[in-house]
Amino acid sequence: MSEAHTAPLAVIVLAAGQGTRMRSRLPKVLHPIGGRPLLGHVLHTAATLSPARIAVVVRHERDRVAQTVAELSPDAVVVDQDEVPGTGRAVELGLDGLDDFAGDVLVLSADVPLLESVTLDALVATHRERAASVTLLSAVLPDPTGYGRVLRDASGDVERIVEQKDATDHEAEVDEINAGVYVFRADALRRHLSKVGRGNAQGEKYLTDVVSLARRAGERIAVGIAPDPAAALGVNDRAQLAEAARLLNARTVRRWQLAGVSVLDPATTWIDVDATLEADVTVMPNTQILRATTIAAGATIGPDTSLVDCEVGEDAVVRRTDATLAVIGARANVGPFAYLRAGTVLAADGKIGTFVETKNSTIGEGSKVPHLSYIGDTTIGRGVNLGAGAITANYDDIAKHRTEIGDEVHSGSHNVFVAPVRIGDGAKTGAGAVIRKDVPAGALALSVAPQRNVEGWVENNRPGTAAADAAARARSAQESGDGTQRQDG
Ligand code: UD1
Ligand code: CA
Repeated sequence: MSEAHTAPLAVIVLAAGQGTRMRSRLPKVLHPIGGRPLLGHVLHTAATLSPARIAVVVRHERDRVAQTVAELSPDAVVVDQDEVPGTGRAVELGLDGLDDFAGDVLVLSADVPLLESVTLDALVATHRERAASVTLLSAVLPDPTGYGRVLRDASGDVERIVEQKDATDHEAEVDEINAGVYVFRADALRRHLSKVGRGNAQGEKYLTDVVSLARRAGERIAVGIAPDPAAALGVNDRAQLAEAARLLNARTVRRWQLAGVSVLDPATTWIDVDATLEADVTVMPNTQILRATTIAAGATIGPDTSLVDCEVGEDAVVRRTDATLAVIGARANVGPFAYLRAGTVLAADGKIGTFVETKNSTIGEGSKVPHLSYIGDTTIGRGVNLGAGAITANYDDIAKHRTEIGDEVHSGSHNVFVAPVRIGDGAKTGAGAVIRKDVPAGALALSVAPQRNVEGWVENNRPGTAAADAAARARSAQESGDGTQRQDG
């Protein structure tokens, strides 16, 4: 093995640019795809290469970007770029941040999020096998507009890279682009960068100029051509951001399909990179499975469902539902048209049904809230059935209070539980009850006044109306005995 084979690897991630073309308050490299910022994808891929050092170069919105680096890649050093613009200056300062690192330096752009570690591994391997000074990743694109073009001489060796803005019409016809990802020998890189000027259309210190300097110095330049050109996509504007998100999602959906998940409509199914799904999950169309959501075997999710940071148990069914930070137990049934907010815990075999909103509430095993309800700050035991239209009045204008419902409670339709209030085990409540006081175990709670019928009120008070006519017809039919006959029949 030559010395080059064993050289240590450092990674420099370029994340200092403003990202003007995004037209955004959020720094470009923090825009998310697949539930993770662009920069996060690049840091994640970098980490899989187990480099000796990682430096991330920041400048625009540096505190926010540095914060993300600290969260996602705490071992990385954050290096500040100065007022000299350009990728060359960024790498020069990144190298300084690695002190006197000697070995190979992999440079990654934070706005090129889809490259996979196998591609980068192969690039590093090519660099070492060829004992190159510079190895760049290129891709052949049907539309190379906007990228730097790789210019080769008559014998096919790389001569230089020309940026779109500096290219002649002839050069712009070249469809081999620079992916913005390179491996350099640290010493050569340091030497060449000190000679890079700013005499170009953008007045920037271009990293790409290192290629022509290395060539003039007679050093070897190697190229790795990206096996999947789409993975070289650089995100500069919102259209490219959406395209990157789509490509990443297609990759994620396919990964889960091959792991045994049925995804009926990949085009309308969005799965974040941190979500996990077990075999025999079925995902119906128009469904978003986001952040760290986990879905156990046999569950059916969708259609028209968004889950953010949720946990779904085995064989649960979740239809037309919006849920965040909720736990849905095994064999539970949710939706259609349910809204589960943070802190909802639905135990095994439970149900949160149609037009039901829940928040910060535990619903016990086999318990059901089937229709038209708001359940907030509530603990519900096992085997409970709440009638249609149950409302927990948890807020008294000053503070939130809890409702505690025991095991095997059955409530009548259209109840209001005015918290703080407790319903004992096995208790029942009448239809329309407003429960303001605790209900002992086994009691029937009634709060509605007994019904009183005022006979003849409509005919006396609304004469001449259709209602009065109908009442009169019913009365005469009854008086002539027809009504009685009809009832008997
Ligand atoms: C760059 C390449 C281009 C290549 C393309 C691939 C140069 C001069 N051009 O162009 O050949 O085809 O990427 O996507 O390198 N950055 C800094 N500091 C700066 C400027 C940029 O850290 O002063 C960072 C950006 O945050 C970004 C990356 O470097 O992550 C690339 O910068 P960008 O301005 O997008 O370069 P491109 O014009 O896309
Ligand atoms: Ca770019």
